[in-house]
Amino acid sequence: MIKIITIIGARPQIIKASAISRAIKENYKDDIEEIIVHTGQHYDKNMSEVFFTELSIPRPKYNLGVGSSKHGEQTAKMIEGIENILETEKPNAIILYGDTNSTLSGAIAASKIHVPIVHIEAGLRSFDKYMPEEINRIMCDHASTLLFSPTKAGYNNLIREGFSKEINEKPSMNMPNIYHCGDIMYDNTLHFSNFINVRETNLSKYGKDFILCTIHRNTNTDDKIRLSAIFNAINEISKTEKIIIPLHPRTKKMMPLTLGESFSKEIENNSNIEIIDPVSFLDMIYLEKNSKLILTDSGGVQKEAYYLEKPCVILRKQTEWIEIVECANAVLADADYNTILNSVENYIINPPKSYPKLFGDGNAAKFICQEIIKCLG
Ligand code: UD1
Ligand code: UDP
Repeated sequence: MIKIITIIGARPQIIKASAISRAIKENYKDDIEEIIVHTGQHYDKNMSEVFFTELSIPRPKYNLGVGSSKHGEQTAKMIEGIENILETEKPNAIILYGDTNSTLSGAIAASKIHVPIVHIEAGLRSFDKYMPEEINRIMCDHASTLLFSPTKAGYNNLIREGFSKEINEKPSMNMPNIYHCGDIMYDNTLHFSNFINVRETNLSKYGKDFILCTIHRNTNTDDKIRLSAIFNAINEISKTEKIIIPLHPRTKKMMPLTLGESFSKEIENNSNIEIIDPVSFLDMIYLEKNSKLILTDSGGVQKEAYYLEKPCVILRKQTEWIEIVECANAVLADADYNTILNSVENYIINPPKSYPKLFGDGNAAKFICQEIIKCLG
C-alpha cells in the first residue's frame, strides 16, 4: 500500500483533487492510501466546504487553518505545518496541484526532507515571472519526481528546461519522470456535467442567453487602470447582454478600493449585471454550460469554456493554455476596453464551429494513479 499526502488549499485545487480521489476510490483503494491536508488558504464556506460535500472528496485529516496574509507569511506558515505532517505521517509521496502558494509550500517542505513530489499540472508557463503563480510552478516542477503535464505545450516546456524525455532508472528528484497525460479537469468536467441536468438549481432563472464572467487575478483586481477598463467594458456590454458574475472574495474586497465607491456601486446597481456569491462546482458547470460566452481571467474557467464548447474572452495578456487560443476558440483580450468589446461582439456574431479534443480522453487521473503505483511503490 502506497501512502500519499495530497495538499489542497485554494478552490481549484479542491476541485482538481476530486478527480484523483475518485480514481483511487473506484480503482486503486487497495493500492493507495490518500491523506488530505488542507492548508486553509481558502476558507469561506463557498470557497472550500461546499466542494467537499458536493464532489464527495474525503475530508481533510489535517487543516492548517493558515488563512490570508502576505505571500511570505502565508507560505512560511504552510511550510512549517506541512513539514510536521510529513514527519508524522511518513508518506511515500506528496501530490501537489497547480501553482498556488499551497503548491509552493508543499514543494519546499517535501523536497527538503526528500519526500517524492508528484506535480499535477506540471510544465505550464505564462513566461511572466512577475506572476506569483509562475514562480510557484517553476519551483515546484524543479523539485518534483513525477511531473504530469496536461498539454503537449507543457511537456515541451519541461524538455526546454532540461528535463529528460526518457529515463532508465527509478525516478527521483535528481532523475524525474515527465509525462503528457491530459487534464484531470477534463476528467472532472466530463464526469460532473452528467449530473447537472438532473438536479434542481435556482440558477435556472437566468435562462440560457447570458454571458458568464469571473475575475480574480491579482494583476486585474489590484490595478486601477486594468480593473476600470474591464468593468467599463462589462458596463458597455450590459447595454445589450445580461452578464452574471460569481464574484471571487478577492475581487469583492478590491472593487470599491480599486474602482472607487461610486463606480463600484454603479456596477452593483446595474440591473443587467448580476453579481452573485461564488457558486458550487456543479452550479458553475451549469452556468458555463448555459452561457453563450465566457469572459474570464481564471485558468480553470477558460478551459471549462473550451470543454463545454463556449467561446472565451480571456482577460489576460497571456495564457498557460495556449492551445485554445491557437485554435481561435478563445482570445487574449488582456484588460483592453476595445479588444474586450470587439472580441465579445465577434464571438456572438460568429461563434467557433468546432472544439478539437486537445486535453486527453477523460482518464488522466487513472493514468496518474497507475504511474504513482508503478514508480513510487
Ligand atoms: C489564489 C491563488 C491563485 C488562484 C486562486 C484561485 C496564490 C498566489 N494565488 O489567489 O493562483 O488562481 O487562488 O481562486 O496562491 N479571501 C477570502 N476568503 C477566502 C479566500 C480568500 O475572503 O476563502 C480573500 C482574502 O481577502 C484574501 C484574498 O481573497 O486576502 C486573496 O486570497 P489568496 O488565497 O491570497 O489569493 P487568491 O487571489 O484567492
Ligand atoms: N469555480 C466554482 N465556482 C465559482 C467560480 C469558479 O466552482 O464561483 C470553479 C471553476 O469551475 C473552476 C475553478 O473554480 O473549476 C477555477 O478556480 P479559480 O477561477 O478560482 O482559479 P484558477 O483556475 O484561475 O486558478
